[in-house]
Amino acid sequence: MQRFTGRVAVVTGAASGLGAALARRLAAEGMAVALADIDLQGAREVAAGLRQNGRNARAFAVDVGEPASIAALAESVADELGTCALLCPNVGVQQFGPVERLSLDEWRWVFGVNVFGAVACVNAFLPQLRAGEEAHVLFTSSTGALHVSPRVGVYNASKSALLSYAETLRLELAEEGIGVSALIPGGMYTTHLQSSAAAKPAGLEAPAFTDEDVAFVGRDMSGEPMVEPDHAIRNLIPALRADEPYIVTHPAFRELIEARFSALRRALDRAGD
Ligand SMILES: NC(=O)c1ccc[n+]([C@@H]2O[C@H](COP(=O)([O-])OP(=O)(O)OC[C@H]3O[C@@H](n4cnc5c(N)ncnc54)[C@H](O)[C@@H]3O)[C@@H](O)[C@H]2O)c1
Repeated sequence: MQRFTGRVAVVTGAASGLGAALARRLAAEGMAVALADIDLQGAREVAAGLRQNGRNARAFAVDVGEPASIAALAESVADELGTCALLCPNVGVQQFGPVERLSLDEWRWVFGVNVFGAVACVNAFLPQLRAGEEAHVLFTSSTGALHVSPRVGVYNASKSALLSYAETLRLELAEEGIGVSALIPGGMYTTHLQSSAAAKPAGLEAPAFTDEDVAFVGRDMSGEPMVEPDHAIRNLIPALRADEPYIVTHPAFRELIEARFSALRRALDRAGD
């Protein structure tokens, strides 16, 4: 995407954390930003802050676990703000716990939001993305898609599925001039655990996280750096202009990610000719 000014961006999960940072960055680029979240009040507060700084921003309610809610969002954005040119399906929920201990309903919730929610966003907004002269989809995956850790398995599996979906969509939309990128963040200072617990549907067994899980995961990831979301997306705009397939936020993950590819290279070597 080359032209941002005056065009419409939709960011889901924009009430806080990375989504709010994306909204701020895109608004600073002159885009009209739709901030969509299950936490409408939070989205309103971020949008109001942007408008106070002279930006064009509006809050919308959405539950990305509900395709009908996403379809309604697409209609409201088109009516109230204009045709979406940059779609950021950014919502993702976290569910800690050993994979065998989580119920199928917990798996369905995480995949329903993190994967099917993003797919439903694309399906709902694709007609608008196709209507303009150029468009882009920016997904939020995670370093967990490339480097896994115990007790984060359902989340990492969902982010891996999302990355694969993004890579495939990129190939399928390339001919139409619609770019697709995957943002691959590492740890950021956000309210991710708390917002996931708040958004978890009633009736699911396991809590989104326990203190013991947090301590366990914290120990496993203790060497990994945490950054502020605004810092994580410092290279966003040039990457979108260049239609980069991947936007990695934490260079410190190099060794962990390369270790995975080294293991695959060794497997290729063992496979011979
Ligand atoms: N925080 C991290 O360390 C980290 C690392 C890698 C990737 N990510 C990813 O970044 C993205 C943003 O998370 P964050 O860290 O900014 O967390 P956050 O809690 O600050 O923001 C998440 C937002 O999503 C909203 N949300 C939750 N469920 C929703 C639903 N069903 N429908 C609509 N909105 C919903 C919440 O209300 C919240 O405003 C997620 O996809 C997350 O998986 C986060």
